[in-house]
Amino acid sequence: MARIDSLALDGVTRRFGAHAALSDLNLEIAGGEFIALLGPSGCGKSTALNCLAGLLPLTSGSIRLDGHRIDHLPPERRGFGMVFQNYALFPHLTVRANIGFGLKMAGVPKADAATRVERALDLVHLTDQARKRPGQLSGGQQQRVAIARAVVLEPRLVLMDEPLSNLDAKLRLEMRTEIRRLHQSLGLTTVYVTHDQEEALSLADRLVLLKDGRVQQTGTGEDVYLHPANRYVASFMGYRNMLTLPVLDADREQAVLAVGGERLTGRNRGSVGAGQRATAALRPEDITVTTAPGGLRAAVEVVEYHGREMVVQGRLKDGQEVHFTTPERLAPGDDVRLTAPEHRVLVFAEGPS
Ligand SMILES: Nc1ncnc2c1ncn2[C@@H]1O[C@H](COP(=O)(O)OP(=O)(O)O)[C@@H](O)[C@H]1O
Ligand SMILES: [Mg+2]
Repeated sequence: MARIDSLALDGVTRRFGAHAALSDLNLEIAGGEFIALLGPSGCGKSTALNCLAGLLPLTSGSIRLDGHRIDHLPPERRGFGMVFQNYALFPHLTVRANIGFGLKMAGVPKADAATRVERALDLVHLTDQARKRPGQLSGGQQQRVAIARAVVLEPRLVLMDEPLSNLDAKLRLEMRTEIRRLHQSLGLTTVYVTHDQEEALSLADRLVLLKDGRVQQTGTGEDVYLHPANRYVASFMGYRNMLTLPVLDADREQAVLAVGGERLTGRNRGSVGAGQRATAALRPEDITVTTAPGGLRAAVEVVEYHGREMVVQGRLKDGQEVHFTTPERLAPGDDVRLTAPEHRVLVFAEGPS
């Protein structure tokens, strides 16, 4: 197995005319790591992946594999495997032949190739389907063929661009587990592009969050989930409540905000000071309905049933919308008091991101 020690992206930039699709991407990937590039549509994820693959030349910057520059090499000389959203399988070839195609092209001896193809088929649980053609398979099975076709070449790096986004919700979950399992058993260094934060969190060792071609934060799932670097990352990572509130009091650790006549205390993440306005970022699931005095008063407006709990949209006394979850049976028009633990309320300075 071709195992790399490191892949270093240094100032990687790609412009289309005057538009910078990717600006100054710096990232060092260790051998065996699973990295997710995450962000909304148009933030530069595919551009970054295509630069890595050699499908797009860099405008500036460099890419080094184990210390050697590779950014001038054509795609086929980089030895990377790619999996795309549309599987791009050969429709007239069987599953087995699709998986073996690259080995044949590479001139791998027949017996060796056959063994590797059988192993890859087994790995993605498609041995029973090996004689079918892609058109006879479900979307999930076709994507498994595409993955097997990439990993059978034992690539130094696997690049995946939203490989699951054409699948329905149930299959997407199954394939996610499959990809995780494959990574656990093969340890292939992987760069995985997705706009789905849950997918990124569940798969990756580290996440790189992009906005308008610029990195906003790089860190483990726990880092970006619990300690988002700014409002943009917070909002992308599920901090659905972004309340704009006046600051009553603040020090380096803490900020106390006013909500009507009540107070909300949180962690000061943006050096905000008393007298300013700030944004309190809060996850719906970190808010609880309380009977204790002092909570934020809200009127219930919309209640959605989600099985174990209700997802509720309410309105604070100052008119701002608030989203929270609760196991309680609430109804529109109910008055509630809401509270959240101080360490789960992130206070950012107002203004761009
Ligand atoms: N071939 C191209 N020509 C011009 N603009 C492009 C091209 N490819 C991508 N872009 C632009 O670069 C930005 C990033 O695109 P892309 O990397 O495809 O985003 P993502 O994969 O995150 O959705 C977008 O604004 C997109 O319109
Ligand atoms: Mg894309």
